[in-house]
Amino acid sequence: MPVLTSSAPGKIILSGEHAVVYGHPAIAFPVPQVRVQAFIAARPTAPQEEIQVISDLVHLNSPLASLKPHHPIRLAVEIVKQELRLEHLPAFELRITSTIPVGSGLGSSAATAVAVVRAVSGFLGAILPDQTISDLAFRVEKQIHGSPSGIDNTVTAFNHPVYFVRGEPILALKVPVPLAFVIGDTGISSSTRAVVDDVRRMRDENPTRVDAILQKIGALTREMRAAMETGRLEQLGALINANHNLLAELEVSSPQLERLVAAARAAGAQGAKLSGSGRGGNMIAYCLPQDIQKVEHALLQAGAAHTIRFTYQPEDAGHAD
Ligand code: PMV
Repeated sequence: MPVLTSSAPGKIILSGEHAVVYGHPAIAFPVPQVRVQAFIAARPTAPQEEIQVISDLVHLNSPLASLKPHHPIRLAVEIVKQELRLEHLPAFELRITSTIPVGSGLGSSAATAVAVVRAVSGFLGAILPDQTISDLAFRVEKQIHGSPSGIDNTVTAFNHPVYFVRGEPILALKVPVPLAFVIGDTGISSSTRAVVDDVRRMRDENPTRVDAILQKIGALTREMRAAMETGRLEQLGALINANHNLLAELEVSSPQLERLVAAARAAGAQGAKLSGSGRGGNMIAYCLPQDIQKVEHALLQAGAAHTIRFTYQPEDAGHAD
């Protein structure tokens, strides 16, 4: 039986997390080494609407209709049904596999929403543009995260580095040169929603101080965009380090993140910072290619639960499937 497959990469935020929630820009890259895949097979003999969902990641093997109405997979399927104005769905089996760790800032929930939306719409005969896929996935994300900026669904749907400003059309970042990174996972999962809420509370209590930090992060992100687009990479490490220090001032770092960031810098990374909402999850180190192995080793020695090396190659960007 033919099976329709779609896939969506993980993501990493290189600059601008938290500030992006308040309208400042952020830069994110897809991480193709980790991804969600969705497979759909028709069930020609089953009655309409009999949709079976199988996901090894969350040990799920259940009819869609038995999932809670706000279950992200159920929401993603329902949103496609609404978008295509269908009264009924044919029967199918939806299988989801993922290599993206959950709750670690690598965009697992957005990649799941994008992969499911793309697979289900494709199965129903609609080849939707990346922007529509991203918008539909954002509707799922809003149900899960409250008030996300939309950066995760954007970068994973477009599979391209993005310069993202909330509510504005996506700007595909043109990075003409390869960039080498190592991601270090603290192994501690943290709730994006809780950390974003804490920053909001801190800003309510001290708007002048917190807005000044957020503005500085925005300015760094604009500088980073210019440095990357023009290939002036010698500034990149210092911008990444400064960004980390500002995030620490927002109190979203943690002892584990500090340890990994310090270890990466000591091992020769050009710059290192926490990535994503913080308090756990991942950090990212930007390295010269010859230093990658040393930095990865240092991160593991310093207690990283996992590392991911990845080299961004300009020619790989933008190919969604
Ligand atoms: O932890 P992550 O990767 O989901 O990143 C969240 C990024 C924030 O800026 C903190 C929140 C958001 O919605 O953009």
